[in-house]
Amino acid sequence: MTKTSLVYVCSNCDAQSPKWSGRCLSCGAWGTIGKEPTIPEVQNTEHIVRSTPGQIKNFSELDHHSVKPNLATAFQGLDLVLGGGLVQGSATLLAGEPGMGKSTLLSQVALALAQGGKKVLYVTGEESPAQIHLRLTRLTQNVSDTLSYLDDTRAEVVAATIEAAKPDLAIIDSIQSVTTEQASGEAGNVSQVKACAALLTQAAKKTGVPIILVGQVTKDGDIAGPRVLEHVVDTVLSLEGDKLHRFRILRAIKHRFGSTDETALLDMDEKGLKVITDPSVALLDARVAAAAGSAVGAMLEGRRPLLVELQALVTAAGYSAPVRKANGLDASRLNMLLAVLTRHAGIQVYDKDVFANAAGGLSVRDPGADLALAAAIASAVKNQPNDPKTAFFGEIGLTGELRPVALPELRIKEIARMGFKTVVCPTLKNPPAGIEVVQCKTVREALS
Ligand SMILES: Nc1ncnc2c1ncn2[C@@H]1O[C@H](COP(=O)(O)OP(=O)(O)OP(=O)(O)O)[C@@H](O)[C@H]1O
Ligand SMILES: [Mg+2]
Repeated sequence: MTKTSLVYVCSNCDAQSPKWSGRCLSCGAWGTIGKEPTIPEVQNTEHIVRSTPGQIKNFSELDHHSVKPNLATAFQGLDLVLGGGLVQGSATLLAGEPGMGKSTLLSQVALALAQGGKKVLYVTGEESPAQIHLRLTRLTQNVSDTLSYLDDTRAEVVAATIEAAKPDLAIIDSIQSVTTEQASGEAGNVSQVKACAALLTQAAKKTGVPIILVGQVTKDGDIAGPRVLEHVVDTVLSLEGDKLHRFRILRAIKHRFGSTDETALLDMDEKGLKVITDPSVALLDARVAAAAGSAVGAMLEGRRPLLVELQALVTAAGYSAPVRKANGLDASRLNMLLAVLTRHAGIQVYDKDVFANAAGGLSVRDPGADLALAAAIASAVKNQPNDPKTAFFGEIGLTGELRPVALPELRIKEIARMGFKTVVCPTLKNPPAGIEVVQCKTVREALS
């Protein structure tokens, strides 16, 4: 005996609720609660008792070699982030905002693999095969015969084609354009995206063919459709950056087969995406060293230290409320730093407009960049350039203290490698030789 019940699901965080509401009580997003198809409620558990027992097996009898990266994608940045390449039968989601370069990146991967004699199937949904072909011919002179496409967006057909053709890699561009009969509604809605991803992932597991699903990201930075997509797949990659800048960062948000510490900095031009082998050089390229309002900070991207120029512009606010704008930086972090600088470092900005920027279009999330931002703001307020051969790192606390950050040795090594003579940072257990290390306990001390 089964009874059915209605469930309302939030498309943003996937929380379920028995009642509809305008705002999700779990994540607070408005207008994201949608009706989910009725799901059966199990009333009788007798059949569980009656089922025949499953077969228990020993792990020691398993061959784990099938879950090691065994398909190097021939695209250096992707292999670096994946820890060697794609695992057989794995499902990878490549997420990114529109125009970030997802199709470009996967076209490059497809071309490189096909040139090495691998069979690649590109499922076109978002764009027509002719548009994809145009991109391929922009990226290379000859498109190999082993790169083929399927112009069909029915998930059952795509899964069956993967099972029949058994390519070395299947790319589905994008998951939001695929539909299945098992779910209701239009392509891209929560139930469709969920059901299609599950169906295609099953096909990958069954055949051992690795698949890459392209996922659109909404303006709020969420992967469109359900967050549950992140649970369905083995790996979630994110391609991020500022569309107006050339630099993109490819990072793993989730990776069942390896670490999520590696990131790749990529440069986008008409010939596609190229790995930047020395990101710090590229990021500091256009720096005007003697400018007031500029400071170089060492931040971490995964485990990789990067030097980035942080800039601040401070001007009188006039009669209106002061404006605070952050570009590539967390706006609330900027406001907190301004309050700490006012209260604990004697830098008055209450009547000033403050604009802060991470040069190069990167998004700086590491709190270790706090001190460099504070140094840029202090330099802008005093209209005095910082020493061009000095770099900064350290997290700033609410009482004005300078807090230790992760991997200080790696940051200092990168600062020294880039030719800086001095580093201002929190106190260290073992300060390295070869560079002047100015260790400070407070932000006031660091900026003096
Ligand atoms: N001819 C060209 N020369 C240089 N850059 C180009 C050219 N055509 C496209 N691009 C770049 O490629 C970007 C689009 O890349 P791509 O189509 O791979 O992005 P996407 O992430 O797949 O986007 P969508 O989500 O819309 O499918 C454009 O924003 C542009 O910067
Ligand atoms: Mg695309």
